[in-house]
Amino acid sequence: MSELNNFENLQVETHGKVGLIRLHRPQAMNALCSPLMDELTQVLDVWESDRAIAAVVLTGNEKVFAAGADIKEMSDKSFVDVHVDNFITAGWERITTFRKPVIAAVSGYALGGGCELAMMCDFILAADNAQFGQPEIKLGIIPGAGGTQRLTRLVGKSKAMEMCLTGRNMGAEEAERAGLVSRVVPVDQLQEEALKTAQTIASYSMPSVMLAKASVDAALNTTLTEGVAVERRMFHSLFATNDQKEGMAAFVEKRKPDFTDS
Ligand code: CAA
Repeated sequence: MSELNNFENLQVETHGKVGLIRLHRPQAMNALCSPLMDELTQVLDVWESDRAIAAVVLTGNEKVFAAGADIKEMSDKSFVDVHVDNFITAGWERITTFRKPVIAAVSGYALGGGCELAMMCDFILAADNAQFGQPEIKLGIIPGAGGTQRLTRLVGKSKAMEMCLTGRNMGAEEAERAGLVSRVVPVDQLQEEALKTAQTIASYSMPSVMLAKASVDAALNTTLTEGVAVERRMFHSLFATNDQKEGMAAFVEKRKPDFTDS
């Protein structure tokens, strides 16, 4: 794990089978500069192929998850710069292809690209001080890391439209009511609760966890008929695993299952 110790913009830890990534650019409100996004890609590349890691928590600090793309880095870029260099697409989307569960644990501001990065994760646990927003309109731009698409799917057209057009932030309670976050917890319990949740996921059979994630994702990318067909194939395929036999035998024998990810 030594290659994951030396980052400028991230702090990386492992807690059993759970990997924790803390965005760490406190001097810039964790603004998502290119070197930070490159470091995030490096960690995910290593953990993708590491069987000892079963789930990941992505978090920030108490005041900020991330205040968006780095405005200072972007401000002088031209259309040709961002288009030819494929800004965002080239460096930001690794998390969307990562096959193990990623929980965003959001405390404080998750604005612009910060909100978009949280929405790329599988679900968001929010601290009670969390603030979500897409304030790009105030900068003369629009969300560019999927905000207009993922926010709309999560909270519906009316609220997504209001947030993208006015730049208004949404607090944690409103975000939970709207379906943007799965749960709200007191800010001083956020990391512990996120790790506990990730450890619960990591205690299950890895193949079934990965297929559950892929199956829920299919709901957003296909029709209902196609999505149910995808789910049914994945469900059937799990009967080829030892862990399905073990999980069901353990239930019948009234004991804890001993999953082997096989
Ligand atoms: N990019 C670069 N630097 C940023 C930044 C960002 N997104 N957000 C904050 N910073 C910097 C500030 O410039 C400031 O630096 P200096 O000390 O050198 O002046 C430092 O972080 C502290 O910030 P503030 O003094 O503003 O802190 P605050 O507590 O008063 O306010 C905040 C916090 C409300 C988050 C405010 O910083 C803010 O509004 N930030 C910008 C939010 C934003 O517009 N995000 C969208 C970015 S565009 C985008 O993300 C595009 C996309 O879709 C991919």
